[in-house]
Amino acid sequence: MNYHEVLSAGNNFLELNEIKNSKLDSELILSKVLNKTREQILSNLNNNINQKQFNEYNYYLIRRKKKEPMAYILGYKNFWKQKYYINKHVLIPRPETEHIIEEALKNIPENRSLNILDMGTGSGCIIISILKERTKCKATAIDICNKALKVAKNNAKLHHLENKIKFINIGIDKYKSYKYDLILSNPPYINKFDLDRLDEDVKVFEPKLALYGGIDGYREIEKVILKSSELLKENGKLIIEIGYNQKNRTLKLLSSNGFYINKISKDLSGKERCIISTKINK
Ligand SMILES: C[S@@+](CC[C@H](N)C(=O)[O-])C[C@H]1O[C@@H](n2cnc3c(N)ncnc32)[C@H](O)[C@@H]1O
Repeated sequence: MNYHEVLSAGNNFLELNEIKNSKLDSELILSKVLNKTREQILSNLNNNINQKQFNEYNYYLIRRKKKEPMAYILGYKNFWKQKYYINKHVLIPRPETEHIIEEALKNIPENRSLNILDMGTGSGCIIISILKERTKCKATAIDICNKALKVAKNNAKLHHLENKIKFINIGIDKYKSYKYDLILSNPPYINKFDLDRLDEDVKVFEPKLALYGGIDGYREIEKVILKSSELLKENGKLIIEIGYNQKNRTLKLLSSNGFYINKISKDLSGKERCIISTKINK
């Protein structure tokens, strides 16, 4: 079969199974199988694929039919300005998390060598994106999941930052350390009610450890705020992502733990998702 025939069969198969971006997904799957770019494929539609490649293509199509997210099938996701390895042990980096990067970069002058902590690093996408652009800074990244940390370490190597980031397998509340200038975190913040109602692809395939924030959704947010209050230098900043309806209680938690609120940043759909605050007293 040639590329054209394979792509239209793949597109039809996914469309029949109600996969939304069936055409793009079949092209991306074929590009993974052939290890070629989409452009190389689309400009050579009369080229043929062999049986082994065809079998592999079908194997990925069947995974996609079962609603497995494309990032897990392809093994990578683009986030901010880089590409990140992804597997089932890490959350797929989300566009809304790019607000943390934007806000962090505004708060780190280019020539400063700050010491940064990333709590719940997952794929490492937050801290790697920052250190790529603020080359004088160094960082620690912690995660309770060792398999996630492995992915983060691979991403640090991929982006030549393995000597700048110390990775530690530990829970937020257990972590003891010297003080930091800046703490960043996108903790798990989904509550029990919302967890049961997540889209099937998220609920079935993404790690519960990266999503679930306890019955009310604040268990890990609280840990991040308490630990940041302990580990930030005076006037150090905490930048945290929260769920779409968690602003008020998070602001109260921050104020009662000695933080001044600098800014609340909205995501593209206008929801308040990222809080920038300063540790002002002990
Ligand atoms: C929402 S994901 C964020 C991953 C990544 N930072 C991102 O933004 O894409 C939360 C991460 O926190 C980790 N985690 C959950 N509970 C934790 C805890 N108590 N201590 C440390 N890490 C934790 C999970 O394993 C997961 O990797």
